[in-house]
Amino acid sequence: MDRLKGKVAIVTGASSGFGRGIATAYAAEGASVVVSDIHEAANQGGFEGDPQLTTVAAINEAGGKAQYVACNVTKQDEVAHLVKETVRLFGGLDVMVNNAGIYRAGKLAHEFGVEDLDACFDVNVRGTWFGCQEAIKVFLEQGRGGNIINIVSTAGLQGHPNQSVYNISKGAAANLTRCLAIEYGRDKIRVNGICPTYAKTSLTRALFDNKDFDKIFTEAIPLKRWGEVEDIANLAIFLGSDESSYIHGDLIRIDGGETLCRFSV
Ligand SMILES: NC(=O)c1ccc[n+]([C@@H]2O[C@H](COP(=O)([O-])OP(=O)(O)OC[C@H]3O[C@@H](n4cnc5c(N)ncnc54)[C@H](O)[C@@H]3O)[C@@H](O)[C@H]2O)c1
Repeated sequence: MDRLKGKVAIVTGASSGFGRGIATAYAAEGASVVVSDIHEAANQGGFEGDPQLTTVAAINEAGGKAQYVACNVTKQDEVAHLVKETVRLFGGLDVMVNNAGIYRAGKLAHEFGVEDLDACFDVNVRGTWFGCQEAIKVFLEQGRGGNIINIVSTAGLQGHPNQSVYNISKGAAANLTRCLAIEYGRDKIRVNGICPTYAKTSLTRALFDNKDFDKIFTEAIPLKRWGEVEDIANLAIFLGSDESSYIHGDLIRIDGGETLCRFSV
């Protein structure tokens, strides 16, 4: 408890999945949280225990502090408004979690339409870029540093079949993380990325329900299980807190050992 006491955080894409888990965990650790998304209700088909509650309602019910600000991360003016509104509501910004993202899969590269490519780049690249840019502007104005956490993916670190449009967008988000860490370290703005493998959210529900995929996937993972939202939220707490104050420009895999090997025992 209280590992993020006194900090103000924005989490994008926070109505469902990782974003919701991170926002909830941050509030439980004492942060004031701006929950942001394109819609306030949780996605259908997720694994939330309380999907009928908005993220803000769930946080408030647990005694935490949170406000919802609508924002489509593909629009720079909306991201700028999100950051301004956060400062107005809570007096500043300490941690920006660029989590909003979409997934496209199931086709070979020559079969994907330009709409899949554009959708992945709009949300996963431009959205992350705008979130970083607008947060950096306010961090520089505040003059006391800041903390950016980009939710990337193991897809940003390696190739996978049948999801090239997603992988190249996450590859861009990974390299953006490295570039910003180099540019803004001197301003005490830390920038890191979290790289999960498949974890249980609405984004992966169809894969989770596919028994063949589930078998191949869990057998390949040394820890023999899917990632849980809490696994990612726990790492996000650590990276958002001062406990990680010398971790900078890192892209941390959180994958049960998946990327160590092709096959597990
Ligand atoms: N679930 C996984 O296995 C997995 C693995 C690696 C990385 N990721 C990444 O984690 C992040 C969160 O994914 P998730 O699994 O929680 O997905 P999710 O679909 O459960 O939640 C994503 C949230 O982002 C919101 N969102 C989508 N487009 C948006 C936009 N333009 N502006 C603002 N919000 C928007 C959605 O409304 C939703 O609430 C994504 O960046 C995803 O690529 C997920």
